[in-house]
Amino acid sequence: MSVQVLVVYYSRTGNTKAMAEAVAEGAQRAGAQVKVKPVTETTLEDLLAADAIIVGSPTYYGTMAAEVKRLIDESVEIHGQLEGKVGGAFSSAGGLGGGQQTTVMEILTTMLVHGMILQGDPRGDHLGPVAIGAPDDRARAQCIRYGERLAALAERLHGR
Ligand SMILES: Cc1cc2nc3c(=O)[nH]c(=O)nc-3n(C[C@H](O)[C@H](O)[C@H](O)COP(=O)(O)O)c2cc1C
Repeated sequence: MSVQVLVVYYSRTGNTKAMAEAVAEGAQRAGAQVKVKPVTETTLEDLLAADAIIVGSPTYYGTMAAEVKRLIDESVEIHGQLEGKVGGAFSSAGGLGGGQQTTVMEILTTMLVHGMILQGDPRGDHLGPVAIGAPDDRARAQCIRYGERLAALAERLHGR
């Protein structure tokens, strides 16, 4: 059985959603079973069922959208149970230097608190995929690459 990858996103104008779809495409290419869900429809059971959880948010004032933080705060109910799962994050902001990487890092920090396992990229977007507005070809390729890499890591850790 292949590993389960959950791609969770919040998106008001479609840019982060397009990134989520590209991340999912990469994870599928790596052979994972992939679910893509808006954060407002994501349950704690979805988080528990996944081997890898990849969260995307638009950058709002240099950090994640409140809707994303809400799910993370709700996850205190399952604190300890996400330990060992693979985690990742991606973000779109309006401009170059708009805070995409601080958003990615803040999501990743919450995953570390959960005891999740993170992977950077020495050759691609180092911390997690970032886009300016809608993902262009470069950002889309980074999202696909990220999905592939994290699904492969989950397979190494959790494949059965
Ligand atoms: C409340 C709010 C705050 C924002 N803050 C930032 C910001 O700090 N830096 C930036 O570059 N863009 C900022 N933006 C722009 C969004 O990050 C950008 O349009 C993003 O691509 C939207 O993603 P979406 O299409 O997935 O909703 C902000 C937009 C909103 C609505």
